Amino acid sequence: MKKIIVIHGPNLNLLGEREPGVYGNDSFDSINAEIAEKAKSKGFEVEIFQTNLEGGIIDMLHEARLTFDGVILNAGAYTHYSYAIRDAISAIKIPVVEVHLSNIHAREEFRHTSVIAPACVGQIAGFGKNSYMLAVDAMYDILKD
Ligand code: DQA
Repeated sequence: MKKIIVIHGPNLNLLGEREPGVYGNDSFDSINAEIAEKAKSKGFEVEIFQTNLEGGIIDMLHEARLTFDGVILNAGAYTHYSYAIRDAISAIKIPVVEVHLSNIHAREEFRHTSVIAPACVGQIAGFGKNSYMLAVDAMYDILKD
């Protein structure tokens, strides 16, 4: 059984109460329950992790390289400026799919740049919580052989 990990970065623990007009009304826990169900339907074993710390994301990426087959990552605002997270993604061999609930390209200018994107397999943004489900589909496709 292939194992994937979903890493949620800063402020995503507040989903449901945080800027619902941008990120939706669904709670963090309910979104995670849907991700877990979706991942299971694709035959994945799944773990879900959240941290508000840049180093926590980096440590988990390092750990994931030994125990997981792929990573779905929403790095939150670190997406736009963390070269350390980008380097961590480049340092590991397992595929990382970048996810955002909002369409970062249609928002403030500082969100248009993802410094982690070049190190990721691809980016899914703008579909609300469904971005995570689409990322599971993408990961299924990447890992199927
Ligand atoms: C986000 C987009 C980022 O710009 C923002 O800082 C977040 C959430 C998203 O999922 O849309 O925290 O990654």
